[in-house]
Amino acid sequence: MTQIDPTGDPETNRILEPPFVPAVAPSDAPPVLSVRGLSVEFPTDDGVVRAVDDLSFDVFPNETLGIVGESGSGKSVTSLAILGLLPKQARVRGEVRFRGDNILGAKENTLRELRGDRIAMIFQDALAALNPVFTVGNQIAESIAVHHDLPKRELEARVVELLDMVGISQPAQRAKQYPHEFSGGMRQRAMIAMSIANDPDVLIADEPTTALDVTIQAQVLDVLERIQTRTRSAIMLITHDLGVVAGVAARVIVMYAGRQAELGTVDEIFYEPKHPYTRGLLASLPRVDRRVVNERLHRIEGQPPSLIFVPSGCAFHPRCPYADLQGLCVSERPPSVELSVGHCSDCHFAATLDERPVRP
Ligand SMILES: Nc1ncnc2c1ncn2[C@@H]1O[C@H](COP(=O)(O)OP(=O)(O)OP(=O)(O)O)[C@@H](O)[C@H]1O
Ligand code: SF4
Ligand SMILES: [Mg+2]
Repeated sequence: MTQIDPTGDPETNRILEPPFVPAVAPSDAPPVLSVRGLSVEFPTDDGVVRAVDDLSFDVFPNETLGIVGESGSGKSVTSLAILGLLPKQARVRGEVRFRGDNILGAKENTLRELRGDRIAMIFQDALAALNPVFTVGNQIAESIAVHHDLPKRELEARVVELLDMVGISQPAQRAKQYPHEFSGGMRQRAMIAMSIANDPDVLIADEPTTALDVTIQAQVLDVLERIQTRTRSAIMLITHDLGVVAGVAARVIVMYAGRQAELGTVDEIFYEPKHPYTRGLLASLPRVDRRVVNERLHRIEGQPPSLIFVPSGCAFHPRCPYADLQGLCVSERPPSVELSVGHCSDCHFAATLDERPVRP
């Protein structure tokens, strides 16, 4: 591991060799899920889409890890790769260790046993995920029955308990209703009930609140938090909305063009961002504490790149106000620099960002 000293403190700045992992875990327990050097490519008629490019991270029991990034940054492909749900043509490299065992490329039988039981997923579109011809209760019961052989009465009691747990009133009656009889927020909560039915170790929530209005969004996030208190599940919360992770996650990975841009605690990401992309995202968040009420929101110039033609060096360089366009930023992919324990930025100038001139 290389030591650098751009701020005069060699102890706190290290260039991490790939596949990087920060030195110290946020928990005493070993990670429940470890992703190492995950890369996913899709060969297409127009060229190879590099959807995820050398991504490594850990998720610990009882923690919520937020994964944020603009549309197309590889968030969903990452979760599908973990669950082994990518289409056949996808080329996948790296490791996904669940409780120590590499499950990337595992047999379909093994994955089927894990999915919905030990690793569960909440999808964005609850209406599409629920079957309109079966009652909600039936579908939740089925998600338990495929993994566990329970007597009918116990199964029914568990369904009612789960609906109650996600805040659905009159759960016994509601269990007998069909998805179209539920409101949008209730359907999303029914989906959550289904995903936690078997007390999974890892819960992957891909944009669980995007389709919902703010009040229902808050209820759903509250349900996730309460569930975690009971089950100690690790939650991977995938969203393009930094505001959502702020309230719920402990640590955050910011992704750009299929790569990690920054990893840190919520406080580090929000109050001491060390990657220009994170700074751009934060500056474009509406905030009530802005001094000038009519101040225009900043937006990151340009568009995210096509993942077929990823810019050389640092993928963010065409949009980065701090970029050295004659040097490193264009010629070399930045390493992951650990600035303090567990806080990493994949930027050549992570440690000296505040002293760099900013292009207007
Ligand atoms: N089956 C596929 N074939 C080809 N390209 C794909 C396929 N699935 C995803 N991609 C591409 O991979 C990239 C990452 O997609 P992904 O769905 O992970 O983005 P995302 O970060 O989840 O975005 P969003 O916030 O819009 O959900 C995108 O460029 C997408 O077009
Ligand atoms: S490596 Fe260069 S282009 Fe990339 S984020 Fe850092 S300063 Fe910007
Ligand atoms: Mg997505």
